[in-house]
Amino acid sequence: MKQNPIIKITNLNKQYRDANKPAVDGLNLNIYPGEIFGLLGPNGAGKTTTISMLCTHLKPNSGSIIINGKEVSTQQTAIRKEIGFVPQDIALYDKLTARENLRFFGNMFGMKGKVLKDKINYWLKTFGLQEKSGKQIKTYSGGMKRRVNLIAGLLHEPKILFLDEPTVGIDVQSKNIIIESLKEINKKGTTIIYTSHHMDEAEHFCSRIAIIDYGKIIAKGEPRKLIDDCEECENLESIFLKLTGRKLRD
Ligand SMILES: Nc1ncnc2c1ncn2[C@@H]1O[C@H](COP(=O)(O)OP(=O)(O)O)[C@@H](O)[C@H]1O
Ligand SMILES: [Mg+2]
Repeated sequence: MKQNPIIKITNLNKQYRDANKPAVDGLNLNIYPGEIFGLLGPNGAGKTTTISMLCTHLKPNSGSIIINGKEVSTQQTAIRKEIGFVPQDIALYDKLTARENLRFFGNMFGMKGKVLKDKINYWLKTFGLQEKSGKQIKTYSGGMKRRVNLIAGLLHEPKILFLDEPTVGIDVQSKNIIIESLKEINKKGTTIIYTSHHMDEAEHFCSRIAIIDYGKIIAKGEPRKLIDDCEECENLESIFLKLTGRKLRD
């Protein structure tokens, strides 16, 4: 790819204070505009740690992250306006309705009035949530909460959207709606970076992926090409097995 990367990660390291080994260990990665990039790996591989540093929520011990030409360590505020982050854990108010929750998050991004109302309606419809939008979040299924959580992270229409395991532990219907909606959002120009330990899902969804194990990248590239280039590998999961000698546990 000849374009400039929209995200440039150089020698990134993170070791938690009480840990005896790094969670992210010398990561180098370029992500280009318009990609759907998957950070894949088993539980504990360092996916959440990596994505949290990219989103400016966690400070690295060393290394550099440049997002859209800005250095994360010095231009945190400017970067936060250009990105959206959807955490794995649901961050919604149980006693508020979906609509009230989204109004709250929209206000936080400085949105209000009819513009905000129209945006909320648009996204509720896109994610198949219109019918129940006036009900309290506590009455929602896990998959529906995950969809509202996702809208909260993209209401301000960020250039770059980060999602941490957006499809883990939810029903198939919610999963499909999320994947299809994210594809649409990507088609309109948003770069998407997402983490998953579901390699089969990422194989079809991502333009490129990196497989992480113990905080290091062990494979990266286009899913189809990685599989074709690996003898006897029929999918990304078998590449992981071949490289590590271990199975990916759920
Ligand atoms: N707050 C923390 N304090 C200490 N160790 C942590 C913390 N968060 C994660 N870790 C450790 O860092 C490693 C990477 O974790 P994480 O980034 O959450 O992996 P993943 O998201 O791929 O499951 C794991 O060994 C995990 O136990
Ligand atoms: Mg995680």
